Amino acid sequence: MKTVVLVSTAGGAGRTTLTAALAVLLARRSRPVAAVDLDPQNMLGAYLGLDTFAREGLGQAMSGRIPAWRGNTWRNADGVLFAPHGETTSAERMAYEARLAAEPRWLAQALAQIDFPPHGVALVDTARLPSQQADQAVRAADLVLCVTPPEPAACATLARRFSVLRSSAATVKVVVNRLNPAREMQRDALALLRAAVGDALELAHRVHFDASVPDSLARGGWIFDDAPHSQASHDLHGLANWLDAWLEAQSGGAASERTR
Ligand SMILES: Nc1ncnc2c1ncn2[C@@H]1O[C@H](COP(=O)(O)OP(=O)(O)O)[C@@H](O)[C@H]1O
Ligand SMILES: [Mg+2]
Repeated sequence: MKTVVLVSTAGGAGRTTLTAALAVLLARRSRPVAAVDLDPQNMLGAYLGLDTFAREGLGQAMSGRIPAWRGNTWRNADGVLFAPHGETTSAERMAYEARLAAEPRWLAQALAQIDFPPHGVALVDTARLPSQQADQAVRAADLVLCVTPPEPAACATLARRFSVLRSSAATVKVVVNRLNPAREMQRDALALLRAAVGDALELAHRVHFDASVPDSLARGGWIFDDAPHSQASHDLHGLANWLDAWLEAQSGGAASERTR
């Protein structure tokens, strides 16, 4: 199983949206997918279409109160195995952040307990950088996707952190989300980002802005089902294609044994 982690330096960048969208699109291709919520916002379950808020999950497991997975995972309608963060108090978060600092590989060890075949994938949504949650996730990652809107502040903060991210053991790529080519300022921000990250920013890693993304989510659906021919749907499929091919290459073609 490979671990793919979505991080960002900006709030509202689209980490949770892209984690859930990629989880659903890869699960529909018969790839075993776990979606793991390491963000105290505890929102990933709602994006995956689950209508119950999980009160307990990894937050409680990280504070040592419950085991990591048992009894706290769900399946969504597309077959994604979902591990929620759970609702935590600030005292609980302080306790678990201290534990994560003391046990830098806690998440890597917990993920290793997921009984998935080599072509399986865990997609991890994190709290925004800098945070203990994001640091843990990056340490556990095979692939880090840095999600950013093409806005100057977001690109500048990502550019500042990028060399640290790239010094991790994982492959690091930048995914530009909420792209609006009509806005000249976004082109300047992208030029700045490209100068900082080089080939980590590929054309395949761009998702256009489309108000149907939140509209579909609010109705419990997906833009790629409601408006399959829109640019953003095309982009999301393109990103999922790229990730599927990357995973296929990493697992030495094991996925070709999947039933389709
Ligand atoms: N490509 C996009 N176009 C339009 N809205 C988007 C797009 N991606 C995400 N959004 C919306 O932006 C908001 C923030 O996204 P979210 O995934 O919650 O960000 P994060 O998890 O990084 O804080 C949500 O309302 C989401 O529906
Ligand atoms: Mg989020």
